[in-house]
Amino acid sequence: MLQIDVITLFPEMIESAVSHGVLGQALKGELLHVKAHTPREFASDRHRTVDDRPFGGGDGMIMLPETLEKTLQKVQHKNSRVIYLSPQGNTLTDEKARSLSKEEHLIFICGRYGGIDQRIINAYVDEEVSIGDYVLSGGELGALVIIDSLARFIPGVLGHGDSADKDSFSQGLLEHPNFTRPREYLGQEVPEVLLSGNHKVIEEWKEKVSALVTCKKRPDLFKEYLQQENAKYQALKKKKTESPLKELQKFLAALSLQERQVLGLEDLHEEDLNV
Ligand code: ADE
Repeated sequence: MLQIDVITLFPEMIESAVSHGVLGQALKGELLHVKAHTPREFASDRHRTVDDRPFGGGDGMIMLPETLEKTLQKVQHKNSRVIYLSPQGNTLTDEKARSLSKEEHLIFICGRYGGIDQRIINAYVDEEVSIGDYVLSGGELGALVIIDSLARFIPGVLGHGDSADKDSFSQGLLEHPNFTRPREYLGQEVPEVLLSGNHKVIEEWKEKVSALVTCKKRPDLFKEYLQQENAKYQALKKKKTESPLKELQKFLAALSLQERQVLGLEDLHEEDLNV
């Protein structure tokens, strides 16, 4: 079972956020273990001081190395991977979340606005991770985003029939739109094929719609997908079908205006697929 220890000045923030929804279920089902620890526990002075002003001046408070180190020593063992949440880190991706989910023990260090003493990073941190190019007031939201995104990859966390392989990014594509009852809502009808019960046809249709959605919203990802599909197609000896691009263009052309509208693809044109 993956064990995650979060070092933070706001342990309630972590504990409360992980107690809901899919994460809460994963904790209850013992598929994942998350515990928050505060360096305040190791502060010995009257005010329980855990941070101080930076040498040389500057904004924000810096977390003191000593209380941080004592907290780290309480939770660290030889198979721990220590991650410091920082805007300077490697940006979180779906792939990174998948690889972190395979670890045995993760320790997240959440800094305050000013950060932590560099010497702790030098001595203890295996990797700095950022959740995007913006600055948060502390690492807690970053740690929670990572925990949430990696949990999907832990076997058993998603309910029966759900699969992390079908979510956005898993095949390099964004997810197709989804619909539930009623069949008609706000004058928009659910595409007929989804009601057909023909599993194989539905899966092929979903992949094509995913490709078109990706083309519209993330042309960069679509370009990579098309290159991969082309490579597979070129490797086929007997080419029974048309090229992946031609096939997608035909699929798009065959969608009715109503279908394009309900899928949010009404302004995608065949020539847009030539990326
Ligand atoms: N702490 C402050 N900003 C951050 C970010 N963008 N990602 C992760 N941790 C952070």
